[in-house]
Amino acid sequence: MTLTFDAVIDAETIVCTICSDTALAAPVFCFSLMAAPAVVSGGTLLRSLAGYGEVELPDLAAGAPHVVVLRHANPRFAPTNRAWLPLGGYLRLADGSTLALPKLPAGVQSAPGQPAGVQPAPGQSAARHDGLRLIPQPTAWSPAAGHLPVPQGFAGRGEPLDAVAALAARNGLAPFLSAAGVALAIHHDPSMADDAYRLCIAPEGVTLAAAGRAGLFHGAITLLQLRETHDGALPCGTITDTARFAWRGQHLDCARHFYAPATLLRLLDMMALFKLNRFHWHFADDEAFRLETATTPALWQQTAFRGEGLPVPGVFGGGIRSGGSYSPADVQTVIARGAELGIAILPEIEVPAHAFAINAVIPGLRDAADTGTEASVQGYPRNVVNPAMPATWEFLAPLMAEVAAMFPIGILHLGCDELPCDTWAGSPAVAALKTREGLSDSHDVQGWMMARLAAQLQAQGIRPAAWEEAAQGANGGIGHNALLFSWTGQAPGIAAARAGHDVVMCPAQHVYLDMAHTADPADWGASWAAFVPLEDTIAWSPVPRGAEDIASRVVGVEGTFWSEFTTHDREMEAMLAPRILGVAQKAWSMTDTLDGPGLRALAGHIGPLFDRIGWDRHRNP
Ligand code: ACM
Repeated sequence: MTLTFDAVIDAETIVCTICSDTALAAPVFCFSLMAAPAVVSGGTLLRSLAGYGEVELPDLAAGAPHVVVLRHANPRFAPTNRAWLPLGGYLRLADGSTLALPKLPAGVQSAPGQPAGVQPAPGQSAARHDGLRLIPQPTAWSPAAGHLPVPQGFAGRGEPLDAVAALAARNGLAPFLSAAGVALAIHHDPSMADDAYRLCIAPEGVTLAAAGRAGLFHGAITLLQLRETHDGALPCGTITDTARFAWRGQHLDCARHFYAPATLLRLLDMMALFKLNRFHWHFADDEAFRLETATTPALWQQTAFRGEGLPVPGVFGGGIRSGGSYSPADVQTVIARGAELGIAILPEIEVPAHAFAINAVIPGLRDAADTGTEASVQGYPRNVVNPAMPATWEFLAPLMAEVAAMFPIGILHLGCDELPCDTWAGSPAVAALKTREGLSDSHDVQGWMMARLAAQLQAQGIRPAAWEEAAQGANGGIGHNALLFSWTGQAPGIAAARAGHDVVMCPAQHVYLDMAHTADPADWGASWAAFVPLEDTIAWSPVPRGAEDIASRVVGVEGTFWSEFTTHDREMEAMLAPRILGVAQKAWSMTDTLDGPGLRALAGHIGPLFDRIGWDRHRNP
């Protein structure tokens, strides 16, 4: 049997055409959109959950195209590009069997035979950058006359150099170390800061000075990148460099889409190339809990896959069946590779909201008498656990302890974003809790819960972390020296810093790399925060003017990538590249002087490095 499927955006609607070469009796069209669907014509909505929908179609005659017109139930989520078209589509037949519909072209598109990305217009050539072609830009660069060709790499030894050589080899780059290479002398200078390094590039060879491992690694990465961006001949001069922020993060949502462990290792290499040093591993959300924990095996065993007949249906491109879980051995591999690359791994579990998968499997975490009808912004009912239920604490305490113990970073991110409005308002148990604890609204209740979880972590020597909402509540929220991630903008981070929290800035308008690069309907990605062209990734200040008082509390910058519309690992690449350069520049560079055109020009020189590695990139001209 042959099925064809096409879909286009027409104003506010999504027009789907399905055709089968065999007659089908009243099939059910299952699919997911970015948000809750509604049917305009061509079928009857039987069921929906978040962006997932099931639409009963009339009988399909053989070879006769059938048109179903959909829209988002909430007109605020008007479709703006191809990522809003149906994902994971399939038909369910009367006997319960399923037929996958062909996948629409997904991800940032390329011209035939070209790497991914929108191609530059004919005649348009990339701007040149005549200075040091390095991202992030160093603290200081004193050029001298001449160039140092490094056709055979460098002759040097030592563990951090070996780690950079291994990174180059894994990624198909020319050897970084070889006996016939240019002399690379190491000078230990204990007076330097951990991340700092100094490189003297002279016609006779290179000297790399640093206090220890981190600085040597960064200096070697700089040499590797310069070799790639300066056509194999390093400009002579002296680079003096150190990191602005200790936390230079990249997040990946591995809950909405399961990325193979090998992809995570590839991402760690990409991060290391640009001196990022924290991987925020988001493996739990409404759709799945993917970490293979011993204390809660039912959780990952029943939610690692989603789709037809499973506790979580094919939301966000889940299709008939998709997913996977991360074993303790996978975790060890990711941690070990991270350590080799100077990257620490931050695990995140998600409570109290974004917990639909948890509630689908673990009984007793909601108040059975709760009359509330709240739904998450993604359209999930029942995606919040209830802190007035003893089962919630019995479930979370061992889970937190186990997950925290698996990761050497000593920090556990608890989630805590996007509590639906009016959560727990219909719960008698929470009403009693409010009276007992003097809490007045859901922010207070959430703050009370987060503070209690944070206290448990702190007692185990683990630092709590959470999204910005954890600081809400008249009671001050999470407290306990928690590290907070400011994502809706910077104002919540500034407020949290003033309340005594360390904060990582990840404003969606600038560093949410799931946002489309452009407003072009042929492009790919979300847009609820903004369209984020490369230039906008640096058009902001981690410590904004007027907030200088909290400078010491801003400990870092982090890019995020959410995977609602990702159904194949590679689709992530051209969303990150080249914008990860802007994240790295903001997170590392002491000199905040690079402007948008400067970044664009540098990205042009670094583009061939992405290509050599085989990492897709967006080429928005
Ligand atoms: C988030 O983007 N909800 C943290």
